[in-house]
Amino acid sequence: MRASLAAAAAMMAGALCASDACATDESAIVLAPGPERARVQAACSMCHSLDYIVMNSPIQDAAGWDKTVRKMMTVYGAPLTPEESAAIVAYLARHYGT
Ligand code: HEC
Repeated sequence: MRASLAAAAAMMAGALCASDACATDESAIVLAPGPERARVQAACSMCHSLDYIVMNSPIQDAAGWDKTVRKMMTVYGAPLTPEESAAIVAYLARHYGT
């Protein structure tokens, strides 16, 4: 069931994407350029796809990202210092905020 769902998702993505640039694996997700990009990619892809950032961008402002990153740290245990999380929130708000 899981496998067939994944296959269906891959087929749909293939139908929607004309070029190689649009692949289905998460390594294809490239975040917006900026001095914090490498840090965000490393810190936020530990537990789940970077897709989560892109998917949530239409509904998050700076306060929303602050709350989300805080939750990643306090609830799920993302190992970020306050300085790192502040930089990441600023980057997310700038590039993926409403
Ligand atoms: C220690 C593991 C871990 C790290 C590191 C982590 N997350 Fe998460 N994240 C989770 C879990 C667990 C969920 C919720 C379960 C799910 O939906 O997969 C989640 C869900 C999310 C969601 C979905 C909305 C929500 O609030 O549940 C967003 C957006 C998100 N993470 C963004 C980030 C960002 C940005 C970073 C980098 C600062 C990050 N995550 C780092 C574990 C982590």
